[in-house]
Amino acid sequence: MNFAQIIKAANDEGSEKHVPDIEIGKGYKSGKDIVRVVVGHDMLHPNTVEHHIAWIELYGVRKDNKQVITLGRAACAPVYSNPNVRFQINQIGDFKSFHALAYCNIHGLWENSLEVAK
Ligand SMILES: [Fe+2]
Repeated sequence: MNFAQIIKAANDEGSEKHVPDIEIGKGYKSGKDIVRVVVGHDMLHPNTVEHHIAWIELYGVRKDNKQVITLGRAACAPVYSNPNVRFQINQIGDFKSFHALAYCNIHGLWENSLEVAK
């Protein structure tokens, strides 16, 4: 088994939703580029000590050389913080795609990708 085989995607979803949604937007006050990653946008994932999304990571792939850049990681405290994070990105035009991972302490690793340029 390799690493890719332990990462789940949309077609692995059951009744609970784990796939991280990725959206690009602008900061409310700053107007700067924001990549927002949310688990449970349409249907909330449980957020208890026993069952929660523990962290989210965001990666970008550069257009020019396909280098993978780790853009950020957010840890979520069960009960008190939701898996809904914003990463302010400089030079967002340098990236061809964004990729997010989310970790549920019960259901494992989940991924999603957003292509922004060829
Ligand atoms: Fe879960």
